[in-house]
Amino acid sequence: MLQIAPSILAADFLHLEKDIQLINRCGDVIHLDVMDGTLVPNISFGFSVIDQVARIATAPMDAHLMVVHPERWFEKLAKDGVQMCSFHWEAAGRNTSRYIERLHALGLKAGVAINPDVPVSKLYPYIGKADYFLIMSVFAGFGGQKFIYESLDRVAALKAEIGRKGAQGLIEIDGGINQGNIRTVEEAGVGLAVTGSAVFGAEDPAAAISALRGA
Ligand code: DX5
Ligand code: ZN
Repeated sequence: MLQIAPSILAADFLHLEKDIQLINRCGDVIHLDVMDGTLVPNISFGFSVIDQVARIATAPMDAHLMVVHPERWFEKLAKDGVQMCSFHWEAAGRNTSRYIERLHALGLKAGVAINPDVPVSKLYPYIGKADYFLIMSVFAGFGGQKFIYESLDRVAALKAEIGRKGAQGLIEIDGGINQGNIRTVEEAGVGLAVTGSAVFGAEDPAAAISALRGA
């Protein structure tokens, strides 16, 4: 069953508690977009926000690190009780396996993320090692962008490769997900869909999450 991970990047930061409680109640996973202004052309938030979110989160937290040197933050995320952490292959390169092992040693699920211009085959060496793969369906850095349809082929190719290897591996998709494309995304093999503006830009975010579930 497709799980929904609302991204707080699109939340109301003046009333963040309300939006976290909404995800606790209606979502499956709390998606935390951390940007450093270097790997991606934007800055979002860091531990001053994550520490507070962690105090009231009952849904699992999923940190999406869009930063250079992601490994610097693994331990602190683990201390905050974050259960899932993805870092970008573009930032990790040949350290990717080592970072996966480090996250596992800290008790976190490890995810490897790629932007739309990175060949999906770059993820294949980590099948059977990473717990999940984050396919960006927009270029990382901003919410509210348009879904790149070629992402569906990338998901399907990755899904097939995971199957060929007889391995496990969840596929997460991030960027431009809405009611109009979520069913196709699910059919392509996605197990976890990040949704920012489709949830928090809606008049009724709880109803938007139900609609995204197909309820
Ligand atoms: C973009 C972030 C996304 C973003 C998604 O770099 O990784 O998680 O919040 O927002 P929407 O759903 O609005 O595209
Ligand atoms: Zn994200």
